[in-house]
Amino acid sequence: SAGDPAAGEKVFRKCQACHAVGADAKSKTGPALTGVIGRPAGKVEGFSYSPALTKEAEAGLVWTPDKIGEFLTNPKGFLPGTKMSFAGLRKDQERADLIAYLATFP
Ligand code: HEM
Repeated sequence: SAGDPAAGEKVFRKCQACHAVGADAKSKTGPALTGVIGRPAGKVEGFSYSPALTKEAEAGLVWTPDKIGEFLTNPKGFLPGTKMSFAGLRKDQERADLIAYLATFP
């Protein structure tokens, strides 16, 4: 069913060791995720992306809900060589909720 941002806020706990989101969010181990939905990949200023992510960004990867969903299902499967050390979110509803949450930070 459609993503629930309140449920997604809880799913985002799995990301918070490495990512912040919100108006004043700073990059940590991972880039700040404010405004990431719909944005071209690899655009957070000052963040040092992997060569793998940089290459896909140059090839035109945009974090649409579909693409971010594919990435989060299996990060290293979708983007071999990524330095994002995260096993992935296999549950469709968790991803839908998380993406709805991220979309509340344009
Ligand atoms: C990159 C989301 C979990 C570390 C990214 C990007 C997204 C993302 C959308 C690409 C951003 C861009 O292109 O600017 C998430 C979400 C997570 C999660 C929603 C939780 C479900 C984690 C965890 C870690 C991590 C747990 C650390 C252990 C990183 C790193 C990158 C990255 C280092 C840069 C990847 C590269 O340059 O290859 N993440 N992430 N992320 N994330 Fe995550």
